[in-house]
Amino acid sequence: MATLLINGKSHTVDVDPGTPLLWVIRERLQLTGTKFGCGVAQCGACTVHLDGRAVRSCQTTVAQAAGKKITTIEGLDPAGRHPLQVAWIAEQVPQCGYCQSGQLMAAAALLARNPNPSDQDIVTAMSGNICRCATYPRIKRAIKRAAQGVRS
Ligand code: FES
Ligand code: FES
Repeated sequence: MATLLINGKSHTVDVDPGTPLLWVIRERLQLTGTKFGCGVAQCGACTVHLDGRAVRSCQTTVAQAAGKKITTIEGLDPAGRHPLQVAWIAEQVPQCGYCQSGQLMAAAALLARNPNPSDQDIVTAMSGNICRCATYPRIKRAIKRAAQGVRS
């Protein structure tokens, strides 16, 4: 049994403490915005925030997440209007869309700690998030656009 604070709501779930957080988010709580890609911390599709830090939920256990503030794409902004989400639409970033919630969560953690990222900061912070559709140039433009909005 574990109690998890996800998107500001407390959930008690009957699972083994070693269960990957991703399983609970998607299968138990039906928060399916977070995606299963590789399952081995190689793609970033499952990225969520733990106390504001981007982590791979496929390789984070329930025990590691308990007691921390967990945020999924559904909780990034109550109205879905986080500056990154607005910029993502303006730049028409997604193609198939599969990787995009993970991309957004990685980018949101970056801007939260560095509201004025350089090109290299963006490349470094986003390097673990794979996009098979190669939307990387649009992702970069959208992060820069959102960062300008956050600063102005
Ligand atoms: S599914 Fe977690 S990193 Fe790929
Ligand atoms: S938009 Fe298709 S994998 Fe990124």
